[in-house]
Amino acid sequence: MSNLKIDIIPCLSDNYSYVLSIGKDALVIDPSEALPIIKFLEKNNLKLKYILNTHHHFDHVGGNLELKNKYSALIAGNEKDKERIPGIDILLNESEKFYFNNSEFEIINVPGHTSECIAYYIKSENVVFTGDAIFSLGCGRLFEGSPNDMWNSICKIKSLPDNTLIYCGHEYTASNAKFVQSINDNDQIKLKIIKIKELREKNIPTVPTTIAEEKELNIFFQANQKNIKSLLSDNNISDEEAFTIIRSAKDTF
Ligand SMILES: [Fe+2]
Repeated sequence: MSNLKIDIIPCLSDNYSYVLSIGKDALVIDPSEALPIIKFLEKNNLKLKYILNTHHHFDHVGGNLELKNKYSALIAGNEKDKERIPGIDILLNESEKFYFNNSEFEIINVPGHTSECIAYYIKSENVVFTGDAIFSLGCGRLFEGSPNDMWNSICKIKSLPDNTLIYCGHEYTASNAKFVQSINDNDQIKLKIIKIKELREKNIPTVPTTIAEEKELNIFFQANQKNIKSLLSDNNISDEEAFTIIRSAKDTF
């Protein structure tokens, strides 16, 4: 049994960075800004060894250089994004492994939000860090990739074991839930909205979610389902067409 600990660090207005630690060694995934990370590391007497990025957007790499300079930490990210990730040292490619002490992180390419988004999957811990590719009840806006790219990325994440915990880049769950409800109103989403409200009123994150829960509630995960296709147009449309309709509707929701 591993002793990897995961802490959620809220940053900026609605970002989540994640500090993973084994004993006193730590890494951070997507430090939006340095200060909340430094405060957490100091409070817990942790030594930052690595900074991992899921993609190049400022609200995911904003703390890279300050943290690198302060702790001599190494920065890892997608090799194909090496020109856009500040301070990158370790170049990663799909299916490659990154090791933090004995924990093995698998790199999964999840393009769509940007062309070079990656997710970090730790099989031994049943966790995946999806950045802005997958959110609780949603998926990222398509800035660089096509709907097909994103649908394929979702299918990759969907194929992970049902009990896998998903840690995503933003607290967007409440607005995502309202969007789901606008297309597919049912008792489960109503209950989920109540739960989200209870958590957010206490300022508790709604992440992590699970693959099982996303399969049940995330309409972007359900673009291949006949009942969802019927709600959108008719059930003869392709999975990609259904996904495209859902993504476009969310863009203007
Ligand atoms: Fe982003």
